[in-house]
Amino acid sequence: MVRLTVNGRTAEVDADPSTPLIYVLRNDLALNGPKLGCARGQCGACTVLLDGRAVRACSTRLADAAVPHVVTTLEGLGTPERPHPLQAAFIAEQAAQCGYCTSGMIMQAAALLAETREGLTEAQVAEALDHNLCRCGTQPRVVRAVLRAARQQGA
Ligand code: FES
Repeated sequence: MVRLTVNGRTAEVDADPSTPLIYVLRNDLALNGPKLGCARGQCGACTVLLDGRAVRACSTRLADAAVPHVVTTLEGLGTPERPHPLQAAFIAEQAAQCGYCTSGMIMQAAALLAETREGLTEAQVAEALDHNLCRCGTQPRVVRAVLRAARQQGA
């Protein structure tokens, strides 16, 4: 058994410690925010926060995310009643097309906003999200959404 703290709750998971975190989140904990895309750490669809840092859940072993570490998925960022500023901004800017990359985009942006205190620029957002792929072409709307959330947070 491996103990895992996700979105403020600790769970015991019966899985091999070398299992990629994405499988545990989706299959054992029914957290379907993070998506499985390339499974090679390249597309960003599976991005979650590990101790506040954006990581690829497909390339993170369960053992490396276990207690005392803390994992946050899209489900832990906000709620439908009280969305995170990024979630509200993505809706306002209509920054999702098919939506497959959206969770990863938001989690990557959440890490960026957490470490940026002020003066976030369009170029910084574009650079931070450069390795989160979107085939629908939503990138300009995603950048606008992140900047909108940053303004709301005073970053
Ligand atoms: Fe993890 Fe593509 S599925 S980076």
